Amino acid sequence: MKIIKKIGDLKIVDKERPIALIPTMGNLHAGHLSLVKQSKNLKLTSLVTIFVNPLQFGPDEDFETYPRTIAQDEENLEKENCDFLFLPDKTELLKGIKNLKAPFSNFLCGKSRPGHFDGVITIVNRFLELLNPEFCFFGQKDFQQQLIIHDHLKKNNFSTKLIVGQTIRDSNGLALSSRNNYLSEREKKNASLIYTYLKEIVDQLMQELAKDSLNISTNVLITCEKYKNKFEEEGFKIDYLEILNAKNLKKLKKGDTEILVAVAAYYKGVRLIDNLICDLSSS
Ligand code: PAF
Repeated sequence: MKIIKKIGDLKIVDKERPIALIPTMGNLHAGHLSLVKQSKNLKLTSLVTIFVNPLQFGPDEDFETYPRTIAQDEENLEKENCDFLFLPDKTELLKGIKNLKAPFSNFLCGKSRPGHFDGVITIVNRFLELLNPEFCFFGQKDFQQQLIIHDHLKKNNFSTKLIVGQTIRDSNGLALSSRNNYLSEREKKNASLIYTYLKEIVDQLMQELAKDSLNISTNVLITCEKYKNKFEEEGFKIDYLEILNAKNLKKLKKGDTEILVAVAAYYKGVRLIDNLICDLSSS
């Protein structure tokens, strides 16, 4: 794996095979590495970026303490045969950067983290402009993020194709995230209730939607209220629990076939997010 630190050195990235851009903030776990694996399986040139992006953290958030584990990350990427690792210099990367405004960002994570997606899209756009990759890879766990990036690529006529990797979970079902490191083993086990409840919600929703007579918005409301209470009883502080149209994040209506069940909750002070997609088109 070649490590690149200067923007000018990105020219060494060979263009023989299509490039897969995999942007990360480091502290890589099996979720990130699965994206590298996927890009390698597709015979792409994998290029991982590690940059803890200050633009996407709010003033009271964990920018300073966000886990930075470069040596370990390099080792893990080597094992996956990653081709390139870009470790940009903050000053060089941010110099003259175009600050962008993200769409779809006044609800879900965007609502509780004002400016977060503006920071994400600003930095991702910088990488896209620098590398003009054929593909870019993001995880489904950050559902709103990948939707915003999808929209950005489309609206700005990038030829880059977005590939969304499935959420990777630990043995209890907790979605892997760098922030899980803030929890003890026992706390992580308890936090996996998020996945248990998400699955229950999807099951119930499928059953209820099959009974055509019921009013969909009432159903959604009742289910969300019930599960918010269940979460709170188990020590979670709910930021949001929403059931929405997965294509446009609008309120669910009759006939919608791709449904997003998304949750953000604090457990022991750690903000965790997860989601499941319920595809009714095949049922
Ligand atoms: O998902 C992340 O880790 C970050 O939001 C990203 C896409 C690397 C941009 O900083």
